[in-house]
Amino acid sequence: MEESTLKATASAPAKIILCGEHAVVFYEPAIVMAIDKQAYVTVEARSDQAIYIKSRNLGVSGRYERGRFKLGVGGGAAKSKLDPIRIAVEKTLELAEKKMGLNVLVDSDIPVAAGLGSSAAVAVATIAATGKLLETSLSKEKICSIAYEAEKTVHEQPSGIDNYISTYGGITIFRRGEKFTPLEARANVILVIGNTKVSRSTGLLVRHVSELKEAYPKVINPIIKAIGRISVSAANALQDGELKRLGELMNVNHGLLYALGVSSEELDQLVYAARRAGALGAKLTGAGGGGCMIALVTPDKLEKVRRAIRRAGGIAMLAKKNDRGVQVWEEK
Ligand code: PMV
Repeated sequence: MEESTLKATASAPAKIILCGEHAVVFYEPAIVMAIDKQAYVTVEARSDQAIYIKSRNLGVSGRYERGRFKLGVGGGAAKSKLDPIRIAVEKTLELAEKKMGLNVLVDSDIPVAAGLGSSAAVAVATIAATGKLLETSLSKEKICSIAYEAEKTVHEQPSGIDNYISTYGGITIFRRGEKFTPLEARANVILVIGNTKVSRSTGLLVRHVSELKEAYPKVINPIIKAIGRISVSAANALQDGELKRLGELMNVNHGLLYALGVSSEELDQLVYAARRAGALGAKLTGAGGGGCMIALVTPDKLEKVRRAIRRAGGIAMLAKKNDRGVQVWEEK
């Protein structure tokens, strides 16, 4: 990479959806929480006009110059993995009305294609770091809306939930197209994430639900509505500090997601293992089809649930709430 004098770095958190995924695409509410896994992006100026992107966690790199892509490492899939990052950079340059070459370094401790919002966290951090380097003051609202544009290139009809929570942090009830309002949760939400290690495509799963809805509207529409109602009841349970109620609602939500065809054998195995080990509730999180599930636990059951998820073949991680959202800093 070429030398430069100015650098900016930003971090942005991953997320879990407590309830409401898929229904949220159809304007039903969902509850989402930012967690303590982060993406980090460092951006520095180049002396030429190229945009060089290297993603450490994806193991790919490449360079965009005069509309052409030149592969660094990572084979045929590299370009499609790097394109959303390039779009985030270009949209920020456009907004700042600047033309310049940049090196973009991505690092992340968020599992990829696992339902934890890795692509949105990378987009949010990329935009914030690029904005800082260009000395353009970007509001959170602006960062969030540019990230949404980048997310659209990852899957066709994102609800915007991932870029939203990654920008603002905390826990909230999200409604597509509405403004951010934090949720006052009285309860301490302790979650164990179980990763099935099966990767999947959010776009395909969202399309599957759309097709099912079109084929059987009278059956599927009430399921989607019921999921929205779960989110409203779960928000009340959180505000009242009623974790047992929240757990029950999560279980019902998993059943409805199963009915929509977005669970998988691996997810179900982890969900049942966590419930048997004493979780208050367990469900898939994100698009499903593989990826991750979450188990709501009390402190005394945490270790037991973690072990049960591991024994059932998953990777178990503890998830804590991240209140800060996107953070950015500059190095001279
Ligand atoms: O991409 P994931 O797995 O984090 O899922 C996002 C949640 C969905 O509701 C399935 C899609 C969306 O855009 O809201």
